[in-house]
Amino acid sequence: MGKAGAVLLAGGMGTRLGSDGPKGVYDIGLTRPVYIFERLIENMMDVVRQTGAYFHLFIMTSDKNDQVTRAFLKEKSYFGYPEEYVHFFLQKMAPASDYDGHVYMEEKYQISTSPNGNGGWFTSMQEAGLIDFAHERGIEWMNIFAVDNVLQRIADPVFVGATLDKGVSVGAKVVRKNAPREGVGVMCLEDGRPSIVEYYELTDEMVEAKDAKGDPAYNFGVILNYLFNIHSLETLFKGKMPCHVVEKKIPHIGENGQHINPESPNGYKYEELVLDMIHQLDTCLPFEVEREREFAPIKNQTGVDSVESARALCLKNGIEL
Ligand code: UTP
Repeated sequence: MGKAGAVLLAGGMGTRLGSDGPKGVYDIGLTRPVYIFERLIENMMDVVRQTGAYFHLFIMTSDKNDQVTRAFLKEKSYFGYPEEYVHFFLQKMAPASDYDGHVYMEEKYQISTSPNGNGGWFTSMQEAGLIDFAHERGIEWMNIFAVDNVLQRIADPVFVGATLDKGVSVGAKVVRKNAPREGVGVMCLEDGRPSIVEYYELTDEMVEAKDAKGDPAYNFGVILNYLFNIHSLETLFKGKMPCHVVEKKIPHIGENGQHINPESPNGYKYEELVLDMIHQLDTCLPFEVEREREFAPIKNQTGVDSVESARALCLKNGIEL
């Protein structure tokens, strides 16, 4: 223990959930308040209790939610996690446009920007001096995880051990997909290198492809929980990443300067994704976890990957809400 740190990706806007604040401050409790951040820290505490050691938590925020996130966690005393083990850093922003590529305006003299995707975490950490900090503390691995999976294990000793044992540059937790078009990126090999294809970029041909055993060829979805070797990133990762065009709701001002908060998607954001970092590394261990025990993402209010489905999974795992 002590050689792995954890990086919480909390810079997203959570537009599908549609709440005003950062996703982590959302309360999923039924009989008592249970904030998403609290659930994640409870999961971290499981590992702390098992191993007898705290590990450093680095939280990525964006201009849009940094202050609220910091103030909330401070007010809640980091849900019992020692403050000296919690560090914040900011990700970058990128312009957002309408469907014709015209940039939206947020205020009269300010273009509309949104966080530039979760793929910038390593460069942003370097710029914030936190990779140097990691070296000074002997941290060699970073467990990157999403804010919205309330069941995931963080700095999971079994996952860390398996990744180290295989001598790979990165480990990726995966689950068996529950439907051919499930909204998860799929793990594969591309030109002999590890690679992940985002669900909205899967072609029909790929969805229907079968492997030698007749099983779906692209059957293992990533859950946005990776263990990256810092040295491998420093030596192999080029920093330059592809840009993904993602259809989203973009708040902006109208012709008369009125603020518009759209109810449905109205344009594009331009994002770098952490999954593209995998392809720049030479080796990756896909590490299958049981989806019912470790995958409860909260993307929407109701339906698939929602507050409702995550609550049901928490209850199934004996977590009181
Ligand atoms: P999502 O792709 O689900 O995006 O993020 P989102 O912004 O949270 O939600 P929607 O799509 O607007 O509804 C997956 C993870 O990556 C983080 C999110 O906070 C979440 O943990 N993320 C996303 C960032 O940290 N920065 C970003 O720019 C985008």
